[in-house]
Amino acid sequence: MTETLKTHVLVVGGGPGGYVAAIRAGQLGLDTILVEGDKLGGTCLIRGCIPSKALIHVAEKFEGMVAAAEEKGALGIHLAARPSIDFAETVRWKDGITAKLNSGVGALLKKAKVKVVAGWANFTDGKTCTVATAEGPVTINADHVILAQGSEPVELPMLPFGGNVISSTEALSLETLPDSLVVIGAGYIGLELGSAFAKLGVSVTVLEARDRILPLYDDALAAPVKQWLSHAGVTIHLEASALGLDATGAVRVKGKDGNEFTVPADKVLVTVGRKPRTQGWGIETMAVDLDGRFVKVDDQCRTSMRDVWAIGDLVGEPMLAHKASAQGEMVAEIIAGHRRHFQPAGIPAVCFTQPEIVSIGLSPSEAEAQGVEIVVGQFPYMANGRALTLEGDKEGGFVRVVARKSDHRIIGIQAVGSHVSELSGEFALALEMGAVLEDLAGTIHAHPTLSEAFHESALKALGHAIHI
Ligand code: NAI
Repeated sequence: MTETLKTHVLVVGGGPGGYVAAIRAGQLGLDTILVEGDKLGGTCLIRGCIPSKALIHVAEKFEGMVAAAEEKGALGIHLAARPSIDFAETVRWKDGITAKLNSGVGALLKKAKVKVVAGWANFTDGKTCTVATAEGPVTINADHVILAQGSEPVELPMLPFGGNVISSTEALSLETLPDSLVVIGAGYIGLELGSAFAKLGVSVTVLEARDRILPLYDDALAAPVKQWLSHAGVTIHLEASALGLDATGAVRVKGKDGNEFTVPADKVLVTVGRKPRTQGWGIETMAVDLDGRFVKVDDQCRTSMRDVWAIGDLVGEPMLAHKASAQGEMVAEIIAGHRRHFQPAGIPAVCFTQPEIVSIGLSPSEAEAQGVEIVVGQFPYMANGRALTLEGDKEGGFVRVVARKSDHRIIGIQAVGSHVSELSGEFALALEMGAVLEDLAGTIHAHPTLSEAFHESALKALGHAIHI
């Protein structure tokens, strides 16, 4: 027999967008159901952001120990033997973190009085879905529906997932480390994971279709990452496309000059982007318009169908967890009667490579392309004491601030350097608060911290940097 539930708010998808929307709706006293077909936490907590950061952390530790064993480090630490790694144990540790976060999300939903229904939702009309739960089908009818189904990895037709061809999901749960890994796509995931595997001793080759790595960032930001990759022995083929696998499992590649060659691979990690999950749950039964491959929404995340909302990866770039959760919180508040719009001054993007990259707002060339007259201040990591104590000066690195020339209003901040991801909050705050260079210059930054590099970048833009 089908159980039937009626609710005010139905959220589909338990990733950061969906669970934040549900918790906020619950906090606001709205009768709320969240449907999730896999584990609470979604791609971010279970098979994306968090597990990849865990793996990157392990890889960094391992790399440091290898350097000590090979007498390559300069810290005075010596190891008598090379460290070994039991990757299955690493994966178990990582799984422990995701399990903790998964149950944490469950507890938060419970505290907010959100009912969780486990199973895949299939819509039969805009406001009604049936969920195949372990206990049988449950039909849910809602006044408001929040679509938060997220995204999935893009598959290459000549290299479909399966066997040794894997996506980031499988890469984060391997039982043993492969000897060799071919990464297809030098974007966020490919370079974050490729770098981590290289640090763990895997021979890594990266194939990128375009003529540069990390196409999202400008050359100056990508250069230190490129330098580290080449220093770490990662081979990069630019303007290279994969043709498929040969009989031995090696990747057949068409190179820059049209020449064909093969690269041996124990595993092939395909990271050529993600696509919104707009299929397999009945979108065709709803009067919801698409905008290209994404669900079309306005600046309140309303779809073309009344009281059907969509958030996160489903509605467009950037496909980032923090954008999804901000939209989720906003939609819950709008449903509760608050006046909200999604108009952030900027959304920070962070790439956890070696070194890390942060970018928010406009780069100098983007500002110039918009005809904005700018002043730019750039401060090098090697002149920051804290960066030196963290060995953060090795790959160069800098913090750059972009401000309007007329009124010094900060319109963009970019940085590359080790641990620089932790400055992204201050960058976002400066942009969102409408700070001018003088605000930043007049703020006392603690010494010794990396944040002083941000302070000095503003002083530099004002023409009176102290430490360069
Ligand atoms: P991406 O869009 O960052 O990079 C894909 C790369 O693959 C591009 O450089 C592209 O030129 C290349 N490419 C595309 N087709 C190709 C082909 N046939 N052969 C060779 N190269 C090809 O996508 P990625 O790395 O898969 O990440 C997906 C999304 O996940 C990102 O856009 C981001 O939103 C999110 N993400 C965010 C992270 C973060 O915030 N730190 C980390 C990882 C992912």
